[in-house]
Amino acid sequence: MPDRLPASSWGRTDRILHNAASLELFANGDPQGDPFRTNVQGTRAILEWAAANEVRELFAVSTAYTCGWNQGLIPERFHEPQPAFQTDYESTKWRAERLCQEWVAQSGRTLTVFRPSFLVGDSETGYTTQYAGFYQFARLVGVLKERYFDPSNGQSTYVPLRIPGRPEDVQNVVPVDYVARMIAEIMDEPRFQGRIYHLTNPDPPTNDLMKCCYEEFFGLHGGSFADPDDVVGKCTEAESLLWDQYQLLTPRVVHTPRFDTTNARQVHEAVGLTFPTLTRDRILMLLDWAARQKWGRSNGKK
Ligand SMILES: NC(=O)c1ccc[n+]([C@@H]2O[C@H](COP(=O)([O-])OP(=O)(O)OC[C@H]3O[C@@H](n4cnc5c(N)ncnc54)[C@H](OP(=O)(O)O)[C@@H]3O)[C@@H](O)[C@H]2O)c1
Repeated sequence: MPDRLPASSWGRTDRILHNAASLELFANGDPQGDPFRTNVQGTRAILEWAAANEVRELFAVSTAYTCGWNQGLIPERFHEPQPAFQTDYESTKWRAERLCQEWVAQSGRTLTVFRPSFLVGDSETGYTTQYAGFYQFARLVGVLKERYFDPSNGQSTYVPLRIPGRPEDVQNVVPVDYVARMIAEIMDEPRFQGRIYHLTNPDPPTNDLMKCCYEEFFGLHGGSFADPDDVVGKCTEAESLLWDQYQLLTPRVVHTPRFDTTNARQVHEAVGLTFPTLTRDRILMLLDWAARQKWGRSNGKK
C-alpha cells in the first residue's frame, strides 16, 4: 500500500478487513513517508478499491489513541473536532478513521471500527510477533539489570531509581488473543456491526503492579515513584537508561484515558466472553515468553 493493490481477478468481494498499518510513531522528517504513507494514503487506496469494486462492508483496525489528548470517558464515537496528538502515528490513524467515516456516508455501506489499546502477547501462551511498547521497555529493564548486576551481591540487584509516574495509574495493555477473538466474533455477527469498539482493558494493570512484575522477573529492587517533572531531564545514569526515551516508550504515563466499552461489553455478554485479566502471573508469563524469544530477535523481528 498505497500503490500496489491487486485487480480483482477472483470475483466479487463482499467485505474487507483493513488491518495493515505502519506503527512508526514519528515521521522522522518526511511528512509524506510512514506512518502517513501507509496509514492515510494506504487507507485511501483501500477505500478507492472498495468503491471501485462495490464492496459494502469495511472492518477497520484503528487505535484507542485516536482520542489524542482528550480527557474524561472516551466514547466509542468518532472524535470531533480533531484532537491534539502525542505522536504522528495517532494523528494518521485519526485521519484514516476520518476517511472511513467519509466512505460510509454513502448509503448501503457498513463500517465497523476496532480500537485496541496497546497490544501484548497471548494471555494463555505469551505468543507475540510484535515487540514494541511493553516489550521495548522490558528489554531496557533487562539491560539495567545486566549493567548493575554484581554476582557477589545476591540475585536481587539494588538500583536506586526514580520512576516517573504514580503507582495507582494504569497501563492500558490488552492481550492479542482477546482482540483477535473480538474481531472474529463481531465479523461473524451482523447485529454487532456498524459500530466503533474500544478493545481495551477494563481492569488494566497499575504502574505499581508492573513495577513489582519487572522487579520480580529481572531480580531488581530500589525503584520508587516520583513526579515526572522531578525526573525527566534530571536523570541519574541508571535512570537515563530507562527514561531518556521516556516520551517514546511510555507516551501514556501522563495521560491515561478511560475508555467507554459499552459496545464491547454487549459482545462479551452475547458470546459469553470473559476478559483475560492481566494478573501478576500472566504478566510474568508474557515477559518470560518474550525473553525466551530474545525480545523478538530470535524470529527475525526487531
Ligand atoms: N501493536 C499495537 O499495540 C496496536 C495497538 C492498537 C492498534 N494497533 C493496530 O493494529 C493493526 C495491526 O498492527 P500490529 O500490531 O499487528 O502491527 P505489525 O505487527 O507491525 O503488523 C502490521 C502489518 O501491516 C503490514 N503493512 C505495513 N505497512 C504496509 C504497507 N505499506 N503495505 C502493505 N502492508 C503493510 C505489515 O506487513 P509486513 O509484515 O509485510 O511488513 C504487517 O503485516 C494496525 O492497524 C495497528 O495500527 C496495534
